[in-house]
Amino acid sequence: MKVPVFLLSAAMCSQLAIAAPPPVDPAMLELADESRCLGCHDVEIKVRGPAWRDVAKRYRGKPEVEEVLVEKVYKGGGGVWGDDYMSANKRAGKDNIRILVKWILTLPDS
Ligand code: HEC
Repeated sequence: MKVPVFLLSAAMCSQLAIAAPPPVDPAMLELADESRCLGCHDVEIKVRGPAWRDVAKRYRGKPEVEEVLVEKVYKGGGGVWGDDYMSANKRAGKDNIRILVKWILTLPDS
């Protein structure tokens, strides 16, 4: 839904909140930005990589994938979401990647 910014009075915000997707932790988005994930990913929409909400949906109830995904993001990989390939993200560091993957896996459906 596109709403001109000038319409976003406080009164309307409470109404929009019903239609908008669940809020996203800004600290996590900042970490994702610093880790250079956001050039290829967005929480809500597919960019080069899958929307992170779709990733959460795919692996819901499968906590055992967490470490596999940490390794994959760190080293890079492909073959799950299409023909594209995720390059390695070693500069982000495994600790940050683990924090991000844990967070991605808990994103609720929109
Ligand atoms: C160069 C673009 C690019 C960057 C940078 C990137 N990704 Fe990805 N990512 C992709 C692509 C493409 C896929 C789909 C790979 C596949 O189909 O297996 C993907 C898949 C994923 C998946 C799901 C993997 C699976 O097997 O289901 C996760 C989780 C993920 N990325 C997290 C991250 C995080 C966290 C970062 C930042 C540290 C990051 N990505 C940076 C392109 C990227």
